Amino acid sequence: NLRRQRQMCIRDRGSITPDEVADWAIGSVLSGGGGNPGDGTASAWREAVDAFVEGSRRSRLGIPILYGTDAVHGHNNVIGATIFPHNLGLGATADPEFVRAIARAGALETAATGARWSFAPCLAVPQDIRWGRTYEGFSADPELVGVLGSAAIEGWHGDDLAATGVVACAKHFVGEGAMVWGTAGRHRHPWMDWWDGWGSGWLLDQGDIQIDEDELRRVHLMPFVAAIRAGALTVMACYGSWHGRRLHAHHRLLTELLKGELGFEGFVVSDWMAVDQLDADYDTAVALAINSGVDMVMVPFDHRRFVTTAVELVESGRIARERVDDAVRRILRVKAAAGLLGEPTQDPVPIDVVGCDEHRALARAAVRASAVVLVDRGALPIPPAGPILAAGEALDDIGIACGGWTISWEGSPGPITDGSTVLDGLLRLSESDAVRYDPNGEFGTEDAAFGIVSIHELPYVEGAGDRADLSVPSDLLDLVRRVRQRVRQLVVVVISGRPLLIEPIVELADAVVAAWLPGSEADGIAEVVMGAAPFTGRLPVAWPRTCQHIGDAPGVHGPAPWPMGHSAASGSSATAEGDRA
Ligand code: GLC
Repeated sequence: NLRRQRQMCIRDRGSITPDEVADWAIGSVLSGGGGNPGDGTASAWREAVDAFVEGSRRSRLGIPILYGTDAVHGHNNVIGATIFPHNLGLGATADPEFVRAIARAGALETAATGARWSFAPCLAVPQDIRWGRTYEGFSADPELVGVLGSAAIEGWHGDDLAATGVVACAKHFVGEGAMVWGTAGRHRHPWMDWWDGWGSGWLLDQGDIQIDEDELRRVHLMPFVAAIRAGALTVMACYGSWHGRRLHAHHRLLTELLKGELGFEGFVVSDWMAVDQLDADYDTAVALAINSGVDMVMVPFDHRRFVTTAVELVESGRIARERVDDAVRRILRVKAAAGLLGEPTQDPVPIDVVGCDEHRALARAAVRASAVVLVDRGALPIPPAGPILAAGEALDDIGIACGGWTISWEGSPGPITDGSTVLDGLLRLSESDAVRYDPNGEFGTEDAAFGIVSIHELPYVEGAGDRADLSVPSDLLDLVRRVRQRVRQLVVVVISGRPLLIEPIVELADAVVAAWLPGSEADGIAEVVMGAAPFTGRLPVAWPRTCQHIGDAPGVHGPAPWPMGHSAASGSSATAEGDRA
């Protein structure tokens, strides 16, 4: 039975060859964040993924791998792919049809490169916006997360999963949005040491969930119930722990609840090296994870060690053979549903679908719909005639607009891929010479009727983005003040993965717009700011006034300035919590 456990192994592409995939007949290969082959273009991806799949078809039984990647806002590792708004911006649209269409487009761009599994959608219900993964959640409203998450799964799978479908992954099971600040208990691993240089990072992510079972079910489990109903075939377990017990070692939640009570028939995949965190003794860690209900282990580096360990654990009786058979049966069931067993049935998706104009237009429409007017004292829209002073590096930076999980794992500022910036949109929509742009807001003594300034967060990912202080840095406050002095009407655009503490900005500006992380078609923000399209976005999470409000329901420390559902767009209905158009 040496061979059965091999299907339970998913391996990072970076240090394995197609021949080793053939020899070891492992179940899956992934590109972790930034795991880009060759020059990172779609054709390099296609060539590399095809080689791995071909290698697996040469294995003893010829069972092909399921190649997985984090296509969480488009096929975001690939240079030239369409980068859609991150989930929090999609939550501001509250529109399942957008989410379904975006997932379908992401599926086509992913399938065009040969990958048939995406670790999306994230079904987190973020409660504490200091969390670095807040932007990966759709909303703090579990019902909206369920609706949008289900639409995403349907979009990824499409009408015929075996033809142009990509297997989705409901993640991270369960309760991660409720992890408590300061409880991030990570077993140290040498490769994690370099993470700790990142400021206040890793103080919440992978931490402890301390809510009772009623709240866990009512708020955080509910989106997974909807996702299973929508046909989810894979679920990724959460790094965190519930009352001190890690989810990857939680038999009652992973097996009795997910597979028993909810009837989930797909397979559970571990997170990246999450199994190693369960116990310093590897055998014990592997036995704990598999016996608790993990079916596929994201090793991700040493497949030999995992396979031989899993075999020894069955021979020694620490893992029942029936458990391995159940895990492998689930994995093969999903591969069959994806059309991977038997003759290839998938329609080859043409490579030029990656980054195509149709997908970029869809992304731009979603960007328009994601923008939320927090405050407007009559400054919106800015007229095309201007004159307009525009400032802020983020107005003209694709990397900042895309945020984490883009080209590299943590993302980065700069022209990292193709696309259009907010400034591109301002220049396209305004009359010639109406816009003067300076990233630092240095306009000498020139005045103008209108100003638009961006403030932003630099890209971050996972726990590296955990931040204790969400106030606006002084250099950005000074930037806003500089432009304030020069213009009559000032609009501030916030490009960030979550609400920031912007009281000082609200006092300086005549209007404030939340743009979230709009992606490669950020010119859609200019379209609503300049009145080419209406503002329709509403807050997907409450926007707190101070850090003390974070994590509390609005109203605990006096009303959060803007509750979930808020919009100050002219003509929008009164903003009551949960009131959505
Ligand atoms: C990461 C993330 C998970 C991702 C996985 C593979 O650490 O937690 O969301 O799918 O590893 O990249």
